[in-house]
Amino acid sequence: MKPFSHLAHGYWRLMEWNLRPEEIARLIQASLDLGIYTLDHADIYGDYRCEAAFGKGFALLPAAERQRVQLVSKCGIKLLSASAPERRIKHYDYSYDHIVQSVETSLIRLGAEKLDVLLLHRPSPLLQPEEVARAFSDLQAAGKVLDFGVSNFTQAQFDALQGACEQPLVTNQVQISPVHVDYLFDGGQDHALLHDYRPMAWSPLGGGRLLTPKTERDQAVLDAFSELSASTGLPIDTLAYAWIFKLPSNPCILLGSGKLERLQAAVNALSYDFPLEDWYTILHASRGHGIA
Ligand SMILES: NC(=O)c1ccc[n+]([C@@H]2O[C@H](COP(=O)([O-])OP(=O)(O)OC[C@H]3O[C@@H](n4cnc5c(N)ncnc54)[C@H](OP(=O)(O)O)[C@@H]3O)[C@@H](O)[C@H]2O)c1
Repeated sequence: MKPFSHLAHGYWRLMEWNLRPEEIARLIQASLDLGIYTLDHADIYGDYRCEAAFGKGFALLPAAERQRVQLVSKCGIKLLSASAPERRIKHYDYSYDHIVQSVETSLIRLGAEKLDVLLLHRPSPLLQPEEVARAFSDLQAAGKVLDFGVSNFTQAQFDALQGACEQPLVTNQVQISPVHVDYLFDGGQDHALLHDYRPMAWSPLGGGRLLTPKTERDQAVLDAFSELSASTGLPIDTLAYAWIFKLPSNPCILLGSGKLERLQAAVNALSYDFPLEDWYTILHASRGHGIA
């Protein structure tokens, strides 16, 4: 099983954080000091700018610290962007050339010699498993990527790709949070358990929705967490991460905040074993009904 850190830090929102390179370096160092060494990227984050902004901070770290970082990045989505004026429509591209070129560009932007894990960002109906497998093998043989995985794939899409790849796919990065529980009921978690890989949970706070509810259901989840927070003295975000950690598939949780104190709040979740009945109370609030 891929040794992701229990918590990973996602850099999707990096451009919103408005950090100078020295501040990014301090943030990376602080997350390493908290045991958060898996850092998540994608070529497209920040309209193709996040990886390069991260790279400027990453370069300021001592080499020994850089080596502690496990870099994850993704490829396959082609955005409409000022940086690609010839593009007419947002689309996916899993051609051999695009995968290889995307990795090479990510490495330059990140200032890294290799990616620890490359993920295919979203499934495409035009994805040819053999062509992707060839790109994976060549990237691995060239030492540019150690391991491969997927994101937002169904179990059947995962299996179809796995059938063509010589390397085991090490993860499926999917949306999991107390306000988004599909993964627990669509067979996703069971697939991870059966095939012995760790999922990565994106938007564990529902992109912030858990704390600033958008729907009545979100509000019900927040109310349930607020009660638990009052009785345990733990903040709601810590409880939300602990709720996800209770899952037997042992998800690596992707934190989306740029604030150090919020990373610390997440680390505190590792030492809280969510009581069973409280866990089901949150599930009930999230689904709007109890279990059968
Ligand atoms: N594979 C995919 O398709 C996919 C899709 C989406 C995301 N991702 C990955 O998952 C990572 C996390 O996603 P996410 O950013 O949506 O995660 P999230 O943790 O669900 O949401 C982060 C948002 O919640 C806010 N927040 C965090 N703690 C808070 C608190 N205690 N009180 C109030 N607001 C709080 C953050 O604001 P502050 O910054 O102000 O704290 C930020 O705006 C991304 O960085 C990316 O790496 C992957």
